[in-house]
Amino acid sequence: MARRISEELISEICNRNDIIDYVSQYVALKKSGRGDFGGLCPFHNEKTPSFHVSQDKQLFHCFGCGASGNLVQFVMRAENLDFVDALKVLADRAGIIIPEEDDFNDENHEKKKKILEINKLTAKFFHNCLKDKDIGLTARNYLIGRKISSKTVTAFGIGYAPKSKDALLNYLKGKGYLENEITDASLAVLRDGKTIDKFRDRVMFPIINVRGDVIGFGGRIMHNNKDVNGYKIPKYLNSSETAVFDKGKNLFSLNIAKNERKPEIILCEGYMDVISTYQAGVKNIVATLGTAITPDQARLMMRYANEILICYDSDEAGIKAALRAIDVINEANGKSRVIKLKGAKDPDEYINRNGIERFKEAVKKAVPSTEFKLSLIKSQYDTSTTDGKVRFLDEAVDVFKTVQDPIEIDAYITKLAQDMDVNKDAVLSRYKEKAEKDRYVSNIRMRNAVTERRPERLEAGGKVHNVPPALIGAQKRLLSLIAGNKRFYNAAKKEISPEEFSKDIYRRLAQKIYDCYENGTNPQEAIILNDFCANDEEMNEASSVFYNMEVYTGDTNVIYDLIYTIKIGKIQMLIDNETDAKKLMQLFGEKKQLEDKKNKWEGQ
Ligand code: CTP
Ligand code: MN
Repeated sequence: MARRISEELISEICNRNDIIDYVSQYVALKKSGRGDFGGLCPFHNEKTPSFHVSQDKQLFHCFGCGASGNLVQFVMRAENLDFVDALKVLADRAGIIIPEEDDFNDENHEKKKKILEINKLTAKFFHNCLKDKDIGLTARNYLIGRKISSKTVTAFGIGYAPKSKDALLNYLKGKGYLENEITDASLAVLRDGKTIDKFRDRVMFPIINVRGDVIGFGGRIMHNNKDVNGYKIPKYLNSSETAVFDKGKNLFSLNIAKNERKPEIILCEGYMDVISTYQAGVKNIVATLGTAITPDQARLMMRYANEILICYDSDEAGIKAALRAIDVINEANGKSRVIKLKGAKDPDEYINRNGIERFKEAVKKAVPSTEFKLSLIKSQYDTSTTDGKVRFLDEAVDVFKTVQDPIEIDAYITKLAQDMDVNKDAVLSRYKEKAEKDRYVSNIRMRNAVTERRPERLEAGGKVHNVPPALIGAQKRLLSLIAGNKRFYNAAKKEISPEEFSKDIYRRLAQKIYDCYENGTNPQEAIILNDFCANDEEMNEASSVFYNMEVYTGDTNVIYDLIYTIKIGKIQMLIDNETDAKKLMQLFGEKKQLEDKKNKWEGQ
């Protein structure tokens, strides 16, 4: 669910951060003019600087690749975050609290903040224990045995939870935290009336969200599954759900994988699978957190990649889980393929046995999910017999129910018919018969998938026209001038209304600027732009309106000139496209009126 963050709060967050400060973390900025800084663009490869940041406007703009926007958009791009998460990063920097939809009471917020603090300290504590000469010895040896380098240990912040029942408790209490706070963070448990450390004698994997917060832990034992009394204990122990940890909404190592910006994300089952694969150089890989994949997780991955490559264990449980994952991803409107690893139980084992190059080949050969499902079904029937064929086809057509693309369905049906040596129409009608039953459901799905787009070309006289570049230029300059100067706005508002701009983006920008002035505030470019965050292209275009270096303080004639250019350009375009004599006369009349008006403006 999209969260609504109030405009005032957004403004406050933007105002309390400085774009020059923040961007300097990524780009070596040099002053290149009054309030203007330049450097090498972090969003594309370049040798000469075409990236600019304006301190006055709090905007960045690259004249090379066109990336443009305010500080929030910079964070979104640089850290690959969505709008809300980028805002949160900036809010954190400024010490501002964003209330969440589920906790408008401060108590819950404070609680979450506290758990995150405790988790961060705990991750450091475990990591230091692992590095400790004596305490961490067995754990280090365990990791060496699993071929994990110390560089990888650092990259994932891997740690070790000591054997003692209260090592962590004592450490955190020493930092001023209470037992119940540590229990709330799922780091301690009540046993026989006594609070003790939840994780003991385990190798610890911190689970970090896309914002870089430690939200929970997974811990692995280093021996067989028996404790000192001979009781079987779980191989992995994870944090229980806490106020900050939801296993169905996060993925292990997505914080790293997202920065790879690859078109695919590999999804596997185990922490160690991710870690080994990462160490071998393939870093666009994540794992679920000990539960089956949820639609939320599928959507989360689709935010950072076009396709999910499922790489689950090769045993029966793994195959079942993969089938389930395909459906969940399909239902979340995502695309997936399946990586098949032969002769090893999981990616970690596969890479250790065969090396990363073989793994990469297997990734390249990942099979489309539909094909994967069909071949599995086929392996269950003896299709050399007529009965086997019939039963196989009957089950096979069910697979297409979750496929969204009609071309894909047709292609598979053709292939199936050929392979089984039966008439295609027969298979097709069988499919249709079954699909008919599900039509109602799929109709709803279709309706949800279709999103509305407003036209961006000029609509006039019942026709759509492409807008000439000169007209675009005039509109951009007008918007930029009126946003920066109330005197210019006052001149413009009497002559042109927001609806008269030719493009949706300009109409929305104009409306925003007009609203600001009418509500008694001066528009801030950087804040107006927040409305365009949903779409990179729109963002660049909207931002480029404000990012001209012009500082114009001359007289208002320039405003009238621009309005004239815009209006005459529009009329001329209509005249050029009109064939009806009567309508033409009318347009000529409008043109004449406009010219008279121009003379009047010039006389002012
Ligand atoms: N898991 C869990 N609790 C368990 C067992 C497994 O939460 N008792 C989760 C963990 O997230 C684990 C994943 O399921 O990473 C896969 O489990 P498994 O295949 O058993 O472990 P591996 O990841 O292969 O771990 P290892 O190689 O260390 O045995
Ligand atoms: Mn394993």
